[in-house]
Amino acid sequence: MKIFIVYCHPSQDSFTKNMCDAFIKGIIDSGNEYIMSDLYKMNFNPVITEQEYIRDANYRNFPEVASDVLEEQEKINSADAIAFIYPVFWTEAPAMLVGWFDRVWSYGFAYGNKTMKLLDKAIILCSAGNSIERLEQFGLLDSMKKVMLGDRLYDRAKQLEFVVFDNTSRENELRTKNWETNLQKAYEIGKIFFD
Ligand SMILES: Cc1cc2nc3c(=O)[nH]c(=O)nc-3n(C[C@H](O)[C@H](O)[C@H](O)COP(=O)(O)O)c2cc1C
Repeated sequence: MKIFIVYCHPSQDSFTKNMCDAFIKGIIDSGNEYIMSDLYKMNFNPVITEQEYIRDANYRNFPEVASDVLEEQEKINSADAIAFIYPVFWTEAPAMLVGWFDRVWSYGFAYGNKTMKLLDKAIILCSAGNSIERLEQFGLLDSMKKVMLGDRLYDRAKQLEFVVFDNTSRENELRTKNWETNLQKAYEIGKIFFD
């Protein structure tokens, strides 16, 4: 299986980067292959233009999408599965990834008379500074899941999964205590999820 990883974190010095590397190692060890968009490294432009907005808002598939958007759409359609890896920022994905959806999930590709293929699997791996208990307190975890699984991914993949690595705040002693266990978990997910 070919997995397209959409990775979004501003810093190499992060738990999320290490978690992504462990996940990739699992993919390789399972005999699967991957391609990746590292949005910060690519300096991906997440800001939808007026022209793009008018195109999508009026349900038109003209003019052609921009070349950077087309490249992302081609990566999706060349893959069997997709994985999103990011840190939670204000109960959402980082703005660059949110903008990636604004632009790449365009009319005629992700909705409407869509050309996006039905993927076999989709997984979200995110890190959160807070504990799961805190994220569940006001339904924050449910909100994140609803947006990612119920809206952005929805029926675009046959199997959906949402994984949170919690307590990763630098103020929290569990960040260091759980570090190796969490990387092992990311590795195992990479190894078994795509079989
Ligand atoms: C701008 C910003 C907003 C954040 N918002 C949240 C949040 O809403 N919920 C949460 O649990 N953690 C939040 N965090 C914490 C990050 O998710 C946490 O720093 C990250 O997962 C730690 O991993 P890292 O080493 O990969 O950066 C936020 C961090 C930043 C910098």
